[in-house]
Amino acid sequence: MTTVSENVFLIGYRGTGKSTVAQLLAARLGWEAVDADAVLEARVGRSIRHIFLEDGEAKFRRLEAAVLKRLCRRQHQVVATGGGVVLRPGNRRRLREAGGVVWLFANAKTIWRRLQTDPSTAERRPDLTVGGLAEIKEMLQVREPLYRACANLAVNTAGREPVEIVHEILAHWNLG
Ligand code: S3P
Repeated sequence: MTTVSENVFLIGYRGTGKSTVAQLLAARLGWEAVDADAVLEARVGRSIRHIFLEDGEAKFRRLEAAVLKRLCRRQHQVVATGGGVVLRPGNRRRLREAGGVVWLFANAKTIWRRLQTDPSTAERRPDLTVGGLAEIKEMLQVREPLYRACANLAVNTAGREPVEIVHEILAHWNLG
């Protein structure tokens, strides 16, 4: 069975700090920080926003599953996954098999505030949040049970510094 000593996967909705925490945690462990969305963009040669616009979400989800499959063959990485990776049961199973899975969460208002101030949101991501706070709440209602079912550890990120979150993850697995 695979253990956390092989990989850590960060799952959770947009704006929950996955990319920042991945960088910090990887530096602490001496592992590689990987942004699964960035790997996908490099492989396809287009931004996720363009893939959604030109090919649709179904095609993006197929590419996302293929990228995850490849990443799961490697070791000693902290992977920041895309917020929708848990939608496919096969992805959830694969994540659990390939390492420790940490769900970073925050309340809808915090997420909404963070997305307003994240410069990469408009240019890189599809407009999944045009519906504002109400849409984020709806998405969380659908996805939270999936994040919860997939994760070994759930960490609240609202009102906390990334470094505190990293400490909590390290302590959970006695990796500190
Ligand atoms: C998505 C989240 C994005 C990206 C894509 C779809 C989602 O990743 O994978 O735009 O469905 O929530 P981030 O969580 O890194 O923004």
